[in-house]
Amino acid sequence: MTKQQRMQAHETGRPNAQIDARFAADVLQGLSRSQKTLPCAWLYDLRGSELFVEITGLEEYYPTRSEIGTLKRSAREIARQIGAHATVVEFGSGSSHKTPLLLEALEAPAAYVPIDISAEFLYESLKPLQARFPALHVEPVVADFSKAEDMRKLRKLLPADGRNVGFFPGSTIGNFTPPEATLFLRQAGDALGQGSLMLIGVDSTTDPEILVPAYDDARKVTAAFNLNLLVRINRELSGNFRLGDFRHEARFNPEQSRVEMHLVSLIDQDVWVQGSRFQFKAGESIHTENSYKYGEQKFAQLCAAAGWQEIGKWMEAGGERGNFGVHLLRCGAAA
Ligand code: TRP
Repeated sequence: MTKQQRMQAHETGRPNAQIDARFAADVLQGLSRSQKTLPCAWLYDLRGSELFVEITGLEEYYPTRSEIGTLKRSAREIARQIGAHATVVEFGSGSSHKTPLLLEALEAPAAYVPIDISAEFLYESLKPLQARFPALHVEPVVADFSKAEDMRKLRKLLPADGRNVGFFPGSTIGNFTPPEATLFLRQAGDALGQGSLMLIGVDSTTDPEILVPAYDDARKVTAAFNLNLLVRINRELSGNFRLGDFRHEARFNPEQSRVEMHLVSLIDQDVWVQGSRFQFKAGESIHTENSYKYGEQKFAQLCAAAGWQEIGKWMEAGGERGNFGVHLLRCGAAA
């Protein structure tokens, strides 16, 4: 197989058509609930993925800087623990900006399997990576890693040699509810296999003075990112949301230890999507995303409940705001 054929191999199952149908079902269901809600994965169409890259460069958004700092400083040590010939499986690879930090440090990585829900963004982002690592076998997968069905397909695709390393940076684990996060880690363990590893970024920051600006920045990039979901519904599902009648809001919920992202209706209004009418009262919101912040103990409990053991943890020495850790986990009971 040529490299180009390999790159396209996973487009043939028409995952995009499937993903589009799931989007429609999620929107119609989510907007029918008393607290309207939309799964955050749908924020990441091509435009949303681009806006998210912009968020990661914002002064207020500390997690990316902090995690990259840690990966740069500790990549050698992390790579030593991972060992040679690993297959790196990235969940929500997006721009793949952090991946070279890991790939460069690893000894003879066997392959890179980036998984993302946005096919367009996935293929675009891989061009610079493939140019930088011309000998690396890259096997992109268009899929929604929050879906059991997609994770089962992933399992069939991966080598069963115990050398798979999940890479799940950005505290994306925090975008699941705790029960969903447990389920994801369990399914990831099934897909990667016993003895496999997972390198995962976890944000533990709980200071609202740091958190709220990180999710509601002065330049309004995060607001544009959140509102882009309505643009996407208008375009793909014949919606008629008027963007000026909604505003982005980030709230810290201390009881649940999470930042919540909402789109708040400014007025009483009706909105139509695919021929269905949805009513909004002034002040009523669509809940579009959570970002859970796990303390040390809570995260350890989460891992244990899902069949993973922590075998290493790295953090920045200081200087960066927030409290962001990179953890290395092993799948299976303690040796
Ligand atoms: N994983 C990121 C986080 O929880 C995702 C994210 C950052 C995000 N900023 C956002 C999602 C703004 C929606 C809106 O930090």
